[in-house]
Amino acid sequence: FQIIVKSEVTSTNDVLKELAQQGYPEKCVLIAQTQTKGKGRKGRSFYSPNDDGLYMSLLLRPKQLKPEDTLLLSALSACAVQSGIKRVTGLDTQIKWVNDIYLKGKKVCGILCEGSCSIETNEFDYIIVGIGINCHNTTFPQDIKGIAASLQSASFIRAKLAAAIIADFFKDYQTLPNRDFLSHYRKHSCVIGKMIQVYQGNQTYPAKVLDIDEHGYLIIEKDGHLETLSSGEITIRVK
Ligand code: BTN
Repeated sequence: FQIIVKSEVTSTNDVLKELAQQGYPEKCVLIAQTQTKGKGRKGRSFYSPNDDGLYMSLLLRPKQLKPEDTLLLSALSACAVQSGIKRVTGLDTQIKWVNDIYLKGKKVCGILCEGSCSIETNEFDYIIVGIGINCHNTTFPQDIKGIAASLQSASFIRAKLAAAIIADFFKDYQTLPNRDFLSHYRKHSCVIGKMIQVYQGNQTYPAKVLDIDEHGYLIIEKDGHLETLSSGEITIRVK
């Protein structure tokens, strides 16, 4: 591995993307103390206060990753974070499809995967997996106060958490086609068996989650029919 540590960056995803374009190799990891423009999914920002969180991005150059298997990388990342948190802090977290990590019903980690495909070969040139974990925060901005939490009840060293996640990630990444991590993913999923609300574009509908398939897609029951869901946002319905 090459691990680069910076005190402040705009976004570890954006900076690592530049390094990827300059030819940095697979397994390069960028960690920052703080981000001035931390990014979340759907163009949202990711709250990245100095010293309170773990903000890191991993550079991958997966050869021959099938398009239908890209979601597996998101699932794998969530497993590595879930197991890294357990090993280093002792805390039991849950995975909300695809790759949000929850502790006692509140989000403690978000993951943003971004990739670039070569037009000539139709293969991924690179994929960046960006992981943001609220570690020691005691306060959050008003708009995310009700939904965000940190791992603060546990006393731990962030570098140890980073090392555990990186080790778990690359262990499963070597054998990605075997999908060994999917049983762990299903075991710690907080959506299997639950009623959810699905948001896709400007469509929204209720459904029940039956399982997660071999591609990491959700198998849902909607209006009495089975369907698979490969994208979209979901929330767990309270009743
Ligand atoms: C989300 O929950 O919407 C995804 C959040 C991803 C945040 C991480 S922090 C490290 C990396 N750099 C970024 O700008 N975003 C990701």
